[in-house]
Amino acid sequence: MDKKEELKKQAAEKAVEEIQSGMVVGLGTGSTVYYALQKIAELIKNGQLNEIVGIPSSKQTEKLADEMRIPLTTFEEHQKIDVTIDGADEIDKYLNLIKGGGGALLREKILAQASKKLVIVADESKLSPKLGTRWAVPIEVIKFAYPLEMEFVKTLAGEPELRMYDNLNEPVITDEGNYILDVNFGTIRNPFELASKLESRAGIVEHGLFLHLAAKVIVAKEEGIKIFEKK
Ligand code: 5RP
Repeated sequence: MDKKEELKKQAAEKAVEEIQSGMVVGLGTGSTVYYALQKIAELIKNGQLNEIVGIPSSKQTEKLADEMRIPLTTFEEHQKIDVTIDGADEIDKYLNLIKGGGGALLREKILAQASKKLVIVADESKLSPKLGTRWAVPIEVIKFAYPLEMEFVKTLAGEPELRMYDNLNEPVITDEGNYILDVNFGTIRNPFELASKLESRAGIVEHGLFLHLAAKVIVAKEEGIKIFEKK
């Protein structure tokens, strides 16, 4: 395992310490969360975690959790999540995030809003002085409206790209049947103002700005684990 993967695994395993028996656990999406799923499965198997149930944030995570025999539930059965573990694409010093690199931002935000505690796991490459410096903002739009929303984000000085499958001349379809625009806004001066403008559009289902949602960010750095907590 290369150094970066080792760091991701360390952060993910540290986050799993937040989970106690009997909890409802939100299961995020991505290559860092994968290591958290592995650890949860291991603790269930050896009897150290009992009676936990997970709510997956994507079909991809649902499949992995099934394969690893992590018991799953739905919002029909549980409307509150004790702790969600998820990844992020960019993290600023206020613990605001850009998420959606894996295309699961809509369900991920639903889980985040339903969680008593959102714990983010990442390696240090995700830390950023200001959101937008390193990553475009993924925006989930309904298919019908996508050309209009591409024009709309241009009026906010964004440069949109319709997300396409690698090696396929087809747009990515999300778990909820929508398209994703990756919009480069450059460094975002006021993410709250931008979020509110995006939320005013009927054709925009959700955006990847996760503001004031993370309670804890666990970052594995070369020199060790660093934990940032919401003040
Ligand atoms: C998926 C996400 C992921 O959590 C984010 O892209 C980080 O993924 P990774 O841990 O693979 O870098 O937001 O929609």
